[in-house]
Amino acid sequence: MNASQWRHLRVNLFGVLAAAGAGSWSFGVSSYTFSLTNTASLFPFRRHSGFVTTASHAFANEALHRSWRTVALMAAFSGSTLLRPRHVQRRAISQKTDPSNDEPDAGFTLDPPSGTRDFFPEKMRMQRWLFDRFRETAQSYGFQEYDAPVLEHEDLYKRKAGEEITEQMYNFRDKEGAAVTLRPEMTPSLARMVLSLMRAETGAIAAVLPLKWYSIPQCWRFETTQRGRKREHYQWNMDIVGVSEVTAEAELLSAVVSFFENVGITSKDVGLRINSRKVLGAVLNTAGVTSDKFAETCVIIDKLDKIGADAVKQELSKQVGLSTEVADTIVAATGAKTLEEFADIAGVGESAEVQELRRLFALAEDYGFADWLQFDASVVRGLAYYTGVVFEGFDKAGVLRAVCGGGRYDKLLELYGSKKEVPCVGFGFGDCVVMELLKERGVLPELGPNVDMVVAAYNADMMGKAMNVARRLRQTGKSVDVYPEAARKVKKAFRYADKVGASRIAFVAPDEWERGEVRIKDLRCAADTPNDKKQCDIPLDKLGEIDNFFS
Ligand code: HAM
Repeated sequence: MNASQWRHLRVNLFGVLAAAGAGSWSFGVSSYTFSLTNTASLFPFRRHSGFVTTASHAFANEALHRSWRTVALMAAFSGSTLLRPRHVQRRAISQKTDPSNDEPDAGFTLDPPSGTRDFFPEKMRMQRWLFDRFRETAQSYGFQEYDAPVLEHEDLYKRKAGEEITEQMYNFRDKEGAAVTLRPEMTPSLARMVLSLMRAETGAIAAVLPLKWYSIPQCWRFETTQRGRKREHYQWNMDIVGVSEVTAEAELLSAVVSFFENVGITSKDVGLRINSRKVLGAVLNTAGVTSDKFAETCVIIDKLDKIGADAVKQELSKQVGLSTEVADTIVAATGAKTLEEFADIAGVGESAEVQELRRLFALAEDYGFADWLQFDASVVRGLAYYTGVVFEGFDKAGVLRAVCGGGRYDKLLELYGSKKEVPCVGFGFGDCVVMELLKERGVLPELGPNVDMVVAAYNADMMGKAMNVARRLRQTGKSVDVYPEAARKVKKAFRYADKVGASRIAFVAPDEWERGEVRIKDLRCAADTPNDKKQCDIPLDKLGEIDNFFS
């Protein structure tokens, strides 16, 4: 035993003496927290007789920490009490300080990996609520739900335009050596699925077009975490396959607006910025830039906010080979305030691309959501595959990052081997930013546990009967929780029913049972409710009509 171990052992022994006579006790010495447990029957050690001490992670000594864990395990198996220091219960207790040390780390952390989230029941309820709103909206627009594995082929994301997303993959080789990744986004999986419906010889899709599909996948990106940005997020996707007209964009934008309206967000809170990469494409065309440079150019322009105009111009010249003049024109055009100004600076006039964008605004006007839209020449989005209209939802207070983003990607399927172009358009809408927004605007609902009724047994003999009552009540479609102990202490059962949000409690007691009845109390009725509506003895064979007794 080295000097440090002796020092810690002396402190431990001090603790043992201080606790003599007590059953189980916790105390702190300087920055250390100790817990003492009476395990005399288990550990007949000479020095530790009567108690075992457990130490917090303040112990830098791995050997002692390991012995604490062994003790903890033995004590747990023996059923004896072992107190753990409170702060150890939440944070890392990793003991490994030297990363070059190959020994397995004796510690562990109770937090999920950085940038990922645990969903405790309260948070899970909120998440479900949000997903229900996503689903409701998509279904009200006639979209069908689909899904795909979270593990995808890495190749699906290998695009050459230098997008950030391809650098952020959680990719690895699986045990068969296949290059796979946790999906950073859903669109390539959707494209793969659509392609699998395509007849190889003709390129015809074996499904009725258009496809209108939605999904709520979990996506993984190794990003710097910040407000509204995580390393995993759920992303509501709605996509339309097989429509080349901007009617598809109008439908999708309208769906985004409907979702916001459903959750209490107005066009004062959120706006949708719209642009078209086609207009930018026309500028490049006029300047004689070949179409293979298009995606890369867009990805660079998307960095304007991050790296500034000069750096963007430099990249356009160095990486894409644009002349200074063209680079200047493009960057200047992205600063335009209106579509007219944009077309003017870019020198494309009333081109077909500009007219298409006008048509989209006109459709939005007729649809009734034009007040949500604004033209923004600086929006190009960072994904390489967009070819036409692009858009993003933004918080008008300017505090949060993009709430959602999407656009047209008519060439993606060709990239994966389709014989012909398949028009596609869609959006992704993350769960993190919108939650922040809803919190900020105070429109999140209060959601309690969704238990309708609690059934409590009067004593142990009545427990089986209480379970039978619960079964009958569940057959009426109610969520019913059986209070797990015989409830002689009625107060405890009431408190429990209140905590789980139940509106009624059934007491299954011998007197009523002999009469073939169950006593049920309304827990949420108004103070002036007549007594016969506050509490009813309901015949067992009438439990299916329970609501009638309280109406
Ligand atoms: P995206 O612009 O990369 O597009 O992401 C869409 C939305 O997902 C963002 O606006 C944001 O709400 C959310 N999001 C993205 N990354 C994160 C993150 N690290 N943490 C939290 N939320 C995030 C796409 O992914 C396209 N595949 C969308 C699409 C579908 N385009 C056509 N169809």
